[in-house]
Amino acid sequence: MSASHPRYLWWNGKRVAWEGATVHVTQLGWATVPAIFEGIMSYWNDAQEELFVFRLDAHLQRFLRSQKMMRMARDYSVAQLTEVIADLLRANECRQDTYVYPLAFLGGGGGFRRLSSTEPAATEITITTRPSPSHLLQREWKHACISSWTRISDNVMPPRVKNLSNYRNSQLASAEASMNGYDTPILLNAQGKVAEGPGACIMMVRDGQLITPGVTESILESITRASLIELARDLDIEVVERTIDRTELYIADEVFFCGTAAEVTPIVSVDRYPVGDGEQGPITSRLERAFHDAVRGKDRRYARWVTPVGAPKAVPAD
Ligand SMILES: Cc1ncc(COP(=O)(O)O)c(C=O)c1O
Repeated sequence: MSASHPRYLWWNGKRVAWEGATVHVTQLGWATVPAIFEGIMSYWNDAQEELFVFRLDAHLQRFLRSQKMMRMARDYSVAQLTEVIADLLRANECRQDTYVYPLAFLGGGGGFRRLSSTEPAATEITITTRPSPSHLLQREWKHACISSWTRISDNVMPPRVKNLSNYRNSQLASAEASMNGYDTPILLNAQGKVAEGPGACIMMVRDGQLITPGVTESILESITRASLIELARDLDIEVVERTIDRTELYIADEVFFCGTAAEVTPIVSVDRYPVGDGEQGPITSRLERAFHDAVRGKDRRYARWVTPVGAPKAVPAD
């Protein structure tokens, strides 16, 4: 792998050299309006010299559901894409935490028009990989604000699926937050209740209970969220999925984001109200540790969540 990019990416059924994977400029634009994607993390386990892809099956199932939702042809199965991703990670000799990015878009131009067809639209798929060091256990905290932008909703642009276009809403909110001196926005839904972050779900702790909005509150059906709910229950932490008021965040004991890229990210203030005592809280810390051990394949109780890719052994230095 060169310093700036991996050797290969996968495109429509073939592993191809990075430099050779180009599209004509006329394909840009409408083709990406219904484009859908996945963000998948794979974690390096030093002791086992192995790379583990976290919840690959769940991510690929969501990838296919997003394709269905956007009326795209689904030419590859979960099993085929699983093999493709493992092969790509091996070919790129990934021996560090690595982000995997499958993207499906409408090839051949005219994507917007073709969406109205009754036939599923012809779909192109690319899969790329890039190094993405985990920030778990690094004590990276964020200061948040409530955004003046409303989260997109199911009857407007369904946040349930990972449509690329959904992220314009996230981008507007993130830009506003950073211009106002915050690290991140938290978006409310059309009902004025807490939805999620720009690229992550949200959880809070009140009186020992872990509380998170339900999947009909204008959120992505997050795989990390589902995993943390399971981990929390295994740790005997009570979990409740319910509507959250904005002001509950101001008086919560703990608040954190969760997601593939966010992993577990503590929020230590909301609209300048310190969360708890303004530091990462104890339940967040327990969940972060449990998540870390699960994703890296260290806690074998969650072995079913991780796919070993069969990483090539390091070539010994002369
Ligand atoms: C808007 C949004 N919400 C939530 C999440 C978390 O979803 P997941 O845990 O499946 O990555 C993401 C992606 O990470 C996201 O982009």
